[in-house]
Amino acid sequence: MATFPLSLSFISILLIITFSTNATASKLGKEETETHLHFYLHEIFNDTEPSAVLVAQGPNTSNHSTAFGAVLVIDDMLTKTPNRNSKLIGKAQGMYALSSQEDRSLLFVVNLVFLQGEFNGSSLAVLGMIPLSSPVREMPVIGGTGRFRFARGYVLTQAYEFDVATGDSIIEYDVHVLHY
Ligand SMILES: *[C@@H]1O[C@H](CO)[C@@H](O)[C@H](O)[C@H]1NC(C)=O
Ligand SMILES: *[C@@H]1O[C@H](CO)[C@@H](O)[C@H](O)[C@H]1NC(C)=O
Ligand SMILES: *[C@@H]1O[C@H](CO)[C@@H](O)[C@H](O)[C@H]1NC(C)=O
Ligand SMILES: *[C@@H]1O[C@H](CO)[C@@H](O)[C@H](O)[C@H]1NC(C)=O
Repeated sequence: MATFPLSLSFISILLIITFSTNATASKLGKEETETHLHFYLHEIFNDTEPSAVLVAQGPNTSNHSTAFGAVLVIDDMLTKTPNRNSKLIGKAQGMYALSSQEDRSLLFVVNLVFLQGEFNGSSLAVLGMIPLSSPVREMPVIGGTGRFRFARGYVLTQAYEFDVATGDSIIEYDVHVLHY
């Protein structure tokens, strides 16, 4: 008995989805494009003004080999080349938490804020996991602002340089995003 109204509502849902998809495409009036960005992130602890600070930790974080429970806030420079004094592309602003008890792994919640060229003032939101034992790490780009409205994509990162004594690091970033 319920079959007929059920299939009818299924068709109307399909129609609604189709119409809203078309409406979105015509409202934007633009083709989706892919942008590839390449830069280096500098995380600096050994400085009078560090770019990363420990803001919280669990009761037993310092006894854990994986630093489980530590939370850091970052405002890291993004530059064109591995040289810290090369052209500033933007900043990586956000936080990460050491979120694994088995290995060193981060939950990374960061906005890449661009300060140069056509993407000046636009940003990308990155939310993902960084297993520090993997040579290449991948995180999703979950959105953006300005030129990056409706952005989606992924980031591949790998360590370029790591100073064991200070924790300072230079990380290479390859960002692939689809946006309008
Ligand atoms: C930290 O920075 C200071 C000042 O630049 C430098 O003298 C010192 O060697 C650095 N420490 C380490 C462990 O690299
Ligand atoms: C953590 O280690 C410190 C010394 O390194 C010790 O004093 C403290 O009791 C430890 N905490 C726990 C919860 O085991
Ligand atoms: C704290 O860490 C130490 C070393 O990893 C571990 O042996 C101990 O069980 C931990 N204590 C608590 C309360 O988790
Ligand atoms: C980026 O945009 C800001 C705000 O509009 C502006 O002040 C700044 O000069 C721009 N930077 C570059 C390099 O274009």
